[in-house]
Amino acid sequence: MPGSSPVPEGHVFIACSMDGFIARPDGDIVWLTSRPVPEGEDFGYAAFMYGIDRILMGSGSYLKVLTLGDWFYQKPVTVLSRSLTAEDVPEHLQGRVEITGETPGEVFGRLGAAGVGRVYVDGGQVIQSCLREGLIRRMTVTRIPVLLGEGLALFGATGPDIGLTHLRTKSWDNGFVQSVYDVG
Ligand SMILES: NC(=O)c1ccc[n+]([C@@H]2O[C@H](COP(=O)([O-])OP(=O)(O)OC[C@H]3O[C@@H](n4cnc5c(N)ncnc54)[C@H](OP(=O)(O)O)[C@@H]3O)[C@@H](O)[C@H]2O)c1
Repeated sequence: MPGSSPVPEGHVFIACSMDGFIARPDGDIVWLTSRPVPEGEDFGYAAFMYGIDRILMGSGSYLKVLTLGDWFYQKPVTVLSRSLTAEDVPEHLQGRVEITGETPGEVFGRLGAAGVGRVYVDGGQVIQSCLREGLIRRMTVTRIPVLLGEGLALFGATGPDIGLTHLRTKSWDNGFVQSVYDVG
């Protein structure tokens, strides 16, 4: 539509078990964070974050990150939640975190009008919602060599198939395998 703002690109950068879980059923991610990694290796995270304007995550991920202590995000964060309110943002994060009951499409539209170009989409359920709404442009998925058997799934019901184009895959000596896909 002439004059309308471009919709930002949604980008995913996430790790999951070989059987596709991002956390244990209770949200535990120690199986991931305690893994030995090559010294100084960040698996491309800093370079990825450099190109990101805004982070969009679900309340599940937000509440988990709050328990980890340090707030390590350098970019503004939008939290999707139908149950949390602005009062659930601690004082030291005010101005850096917003909570909204908007749909992903509404958030992307608002961010596009504000000039945001690239959104890092995080949290399994929110990634799934954004995929269904056609908001994800690229996904970087790092497979961790472990089978958890059960947990919080990275992917779920999609409706129609969502085609992916494989761009590249890289592996490390510790068994991490990272693949990058464009959606479509
Ligand atoms: N392995 C990794 O790299 C990685 C990365 C990120 C997160 N995690 C882990 O994954 C867990 C959280 O993931 P998750 O999939 O359970 O949750 P999530 O996607 O982070 O959050 C889901 C919640 O967001 C809220 N929400 C609001 N609007 C939504 C919408 N349109 N679509 C989906 N959700 C919406 C809902 O809660 P309310 O509306 O009730 O608030 C929903 O329950 C945490 O344990 C976190 O540590 C792992």
